[in-house]
Parts: sequence; C-alpha cells; structure tokens
Amino acid sequence: MTKPLSIGIAGLGTVGAGVLRLLHDNAALIAARAGVPLNVTAVSARDRSRDRGISLDGLRWHDNPDSLAHDPAVDVVIELIGGAEGPARTLVEAALRAGKSVITANKALIAHHGNHLATLAETHQAAFRFESAVAGGIPIIKALREGLAANRIDAVAGIFNGTCNYILSRMRAEKLDFATVLADAQAQGYAEADPSFDIDGVDTAHKLAILAALAFGRPVDFASIHVEGIRRVSALDIAFADELGYRIKLLGIARATDAGIETRVHPAMVPLSAPLAHVDGVNNAVVINGDPVGEVVLQGRGAGAGPTASAVIADLIDLARNRTTPMLGVAQADLAALPSMPMDQHRGAYFLRLMVQDQPGVIADITAVLRDHTISLESMLQHGRSANQAVPVVLVTHITNEHAMRAALARLETLAAVLESPTAIRIESA
Ligand SMILES: NC(=O)c1ccc[n+]([C@@H]2O[C@H](COP(=O)([O-])OP(=O)(O)OC[C@H]3O[C@@H](n4cnc5c(N)ncnc54)[C@H](OP(=O)(O)O)[C@@H]3O)[C@@H](O)[C@H]2O)c1
Repeated sequence: MTKPLSIGIAGLGTVGAGVLRLLHDNAALIAARAGVPLNVTAVSARDRSRDRGISLDGLRWHDNPDSLAHDPAVDVVIELIGGAEGPARTLVEAALRAGKSVITANKALIAHHGNHLATLAETHQAAFRFESAVAGGIPIIKALREGLAANRIDAVAGIFNGTCNYILSRMRAEKLDFATVLADAQAQGYAEADPSFDIDGVDTAHKLAILAALAFGRPVDFASIHVEGIRRVSALDIAFADELGYRIKLLGIARATDAGIETRVHPAMVPLSAPLAHVDGVNNAVVINGDPVGEVVLQGRGAGAGPTASAVIADLIDLARNRTTPMLGVAQADLAALPSMPMDQHRGAYFLRLMVQDQPGVIADITAVLRDHTISLESMLQHGRSANQAVPVVLVTHITNEHAMRAALARLETLAAVLESPTAIRIESA
C-alpha cells in the first residue's frame, strides 16, 4: 500500500468538526476511494478545551494554525478558519510556499486573493483545492473545471446563499416582511448575528467571482461584480411576482456578452418556467449553459457541516489519487484578460413598482417618462382605487438597457404623484 496521506486541519467549527466526523463515519469507503488511508494527524483552533462532539485524542494540537504549514509530518493543510485576511490567509500562503497541498472552504479568501494564491500554488507546485467554497455540497467546481471542460461556457447563474433563499422563501410562503423573517432566522440560527455578508449579496458575489473565473478562464475579478442584496425586497413585490408568474430570488449571474463578461448579484424575477424559480429554503442551485452541452442544472444543500465536509473530502480524495489540475483549470499564463462589462450596459427586462397618488394623469406622466427613455412596456397592473392614497402601480418592461432604466427611475422619482422611491427588479430568464 502507498503511504497514507497525513492531514492537518485548521479550524474545528461547523465545517472542521464536520470533516473529522465524516472521515470517521465513512472511513472505509473513503479509504477505498482514496486508495490510501487519510489520516488527520494535527489540528488547530482557538480554544483547546472546547467540546467539539468528536474526539481529538492522538492528534497534535497547534495553538498557532500557521505552524501546520511548517509541520514536516503534514502533507495536506485544510484551512477551515474563514476570512479573507488574518490567520486563514497567513496559513494558506505559508502552506503553499512550503509546497504543501491546500484545501479550503474559504470563498472570501479566494475572491480577494485567488490570483495570488494560484500563482503561489503554481510556483511551489502545490495543489490548491476549494470545492467546498461554492455551493457547499454541490460539486460545481469539479463540474465546471473538469466535467464541462470541453465546452465554451456562455453563462453560469445560480442561488448561492441559503440564508437569502430561506428568507425569500419564507416571506413568500408566510406573507411576512423582510425584517420579521430575518429576526426569526437569526433566532433559529439560519442567519448570522451580523447577517450583512449574506443579505447584502457579498457572500454570493464571493462565490460568483470564483465561478466566473473558472467558467471563462480568466483571473478572479471580485471588484467588477455589481452587487445588490435583498434588504429592499418587500412582501408586496413578492405578491406581485406571484401574480405575474415569477419568484424573486437572489441570483449570482456571470454571462459572456459582446461587451465583455457581465457579473452581477441582485434580487431577480425568475419566471416559473425556469428551474431556479423552484429552488426553495436553504437550498442552492446552479444553471450552466455551455456549448455544445446546453443547459446543466445542479441543485443541493449549499451549507452545513455534512454537505460542506462532503466537498472538502472529495478534494482530499482527488489529492490522494494525484488528480491535480491548475487552480482555475488552466495555467495562470493561459488565463485570458477578458474585459468586464460595466453594469450600465446590462440589457434586460424590468419589473417596476411605483407607489402613486391615485389621481387622473398619473399613468400618462409615468409612461411619458418611459417613452422619453425609449423604454417600452409589456404589461401594467394596478389594483384597487382609494382616492388620495398611495396605490401600487406595477409595470413590466420589454428589454431595455440599464443606463436608460436608471435615468428613467431618477426622473420618475421626481414626479409629484410618485410617493416613494420606485422599486426596480431585473427580470431574468435563467
Ligand atoms: N458553515 C458552513 O456551512 C460553510 C459552508 C461553506 C463554506 N464555509 C466556509 O468554511 C470556513 C469555516 O466555516 P465554519 O462555519 O466552520 O466557521 P466556524 O464554525 O466559525 O469555525 C471557525 C473555526 O476556526 C477557528 N479559528 C478562528 N480563529 C482562529 C485562529 N486565530 N486560530 C486558530 N483557529 C481559529 C475557530 O476556533 P474555536 O472553535 O476554538 O473558536 C473555529 O474552530 C469559512 O471559510 C466558511 O466561509 C462554511
């Protein structure tokens, strides 16, 4: 038998403890698939005395995670601390410099430092794997980098944040507003005490940055992603979406266009005919469009100890089998410096909701503004009349461009009969 793989794990929280548990529970089948025993020999976390629900007997404890990189008995370092900076970054860089293989679930680290880490890995001939960083248990990295490697990818779109999807699903099912569902999700542990990374779309953008780099063979480019979160999604918009045959989802979308690669994260109206409309609760899903493969849809649990550990250990088995590829599928020197498309060049249809004073001439004023910006309408909805009170007017546009829409929104907001900032939600066919 070949030499066992000796593993050091930094971070023994939800994912780290999950990895230890899964290695223990499925030891025999994992060893058979790896071809060699996978032995965790060293670990690091902050609090040595904390009960993690799994025995750490016989494992070397490092107070400083960085020292795993310098432990000569460790072949593979698994970083499960988190954060784009600090101990996670220090450890990953040190391990790659030491020529050790690294596995991480840390999307923030890759979104911000992926290019540097890919160069380090290449320079020091170290493997760098991150299946668990995007969509938890869904093997999307392997699908894009290997399974679909013969395709030209046109678009990747998905639901990458379970917290947001859970909140939007519950708002719809129980007709509740955003703040109520968020507070309850926090009380139940589905949302962090500081939920801003999730609900403001940053976590989705981290994952999209990674997928866009893999899909289009270009360097990781987090900075060019347009990011909007779900704080402004209202129960009223969700009800109108239902009426019009859509679901509102927080999507991450990367698409090749003639003007460059478009990468954006925002709430979107998804038609019921599209697979992403039916992904509810904490689930994640990804839709890939490739040539010649066509549409490929993957769905599953995007977080949690078990699904994330499943992806970490898949990486470990690949390393044990010596299945290695460059971090982004192609060598750094072969990545293409494809331009990013500025968001104001985005083209698509829009859902608009305006709260207006119900008085004669309002609709004519609104449609005049849209006409001035060459935005044409597909449909309009207005319910209930109550004299001198705010009533919602919903407009669905034909395909237009973002620049025109922003200019129209700025003018609509100045109309005397428009009582609050208009809501605009992009309509996706994904
Ligand atoms: N949770 C998920 O479902 C999920 C899914 C996909 C990806 N991820 C990613 O996986 C990573 C870990 O997430 P998690 O949810 O497992 O986090 P977590 O539960 O907060 O665990 C973090 C671990 O890191 C340790 N740690 C923190 N600072 C440290 C330091 N300075 N030195 C040594 N250890 C330190 C903590 O030690 P103590 O335990 O002693 O405090 C803890 O064990 C993150 O990058 C996250 O984005 C998580």
